[in-house]
Amino acid sequence: MQTLFVNCCPRVEASRTLRLAEVFLAALREKLPGFNLHQQNPHGMGLAPVWGETLTQREALCDARDWTHPLTRPAAEMAQSDLLVIAAPYWDLSFPSALKVWMEHMWIRNLTFFYRDDQPVGLCRAEAAVYTTTAGSRIGAHDWGTLYVEDCLRTLGVRSFHAIKAEALDLDSSDPEAILAEAEGRARLLANGLSARWLQTP
Ligand SMILES: Cc1cc2nc3c(=O)[nH]c(=O)nc-3n(C[C@H](O)[C@H](O)[C@H](O)COP(=O)(O)O)c2cc1C
Repeated sequence: MQTLFVNCCPRVEASRTLRLAEVFLAALREKLPGFNLHQQNPHGMGLAPVWGETLTQREALCDARDWTHPLTRPAAEMAQSDLLVIAAPYWDLSFPSALKVWMEHMWIRNLTFFYRDDQPVGLCRAEAAVYTTTAGSRIGAHDWGTLYVEDCLRTLGVRSFHAIKAEALDLDSSDPEAILAEAEGRARLLANGLSARWLQTP
């Protein structure tokens, strides 16, 4: 089970979002014997927003199917992963911009998707993606961040998408530890459910 953990939590040790993701990953590690984790950190891996010249260079790499170049390698790893776990706090109604830049780098023609009848068709092998986020207030119905991540990953071929959210952590009336503990319970349940499903799959 090759897992890619996309850690987009700028507050690092202080991050509640990272804590939630780590609870999920620890529960999964406990249940799955062949669990193998690799991490990408969108803030630290030198990804630049895609620019005109980058696009030209990238199109040439896509035509040549060169998946070892720094512009395509992160997506090659994503495309080969069985599970994606993405952690990003709720910032400015979505998530930190580094995650958008990371996502730009995942759209690699002939590697993560191709076009058929003018529609993108996903090529990624992941069975599931899990997105953890925490928010200072209530996110409400327009959760642009989660929906964007889900739509991108499903288009790129990821079969199922699960979000674990802990909301209202910064409100005066809130008990953040209680909210986090409840979300961690959901994270463990999801890890148990997914691992049971995968252990049954021959
Ligand atoms: C730059 C920044 C932007 C934020 N934007 C929002 C926001 O739009 N809505 C909200 O409810 N909380 C917002 N927050 C609060 C965070 O969502 C909240 O504190 C979250 O738990 C932080 O996650 P972390 O502990 O993993 O860093 C923001 C915090 C920061 C630092």
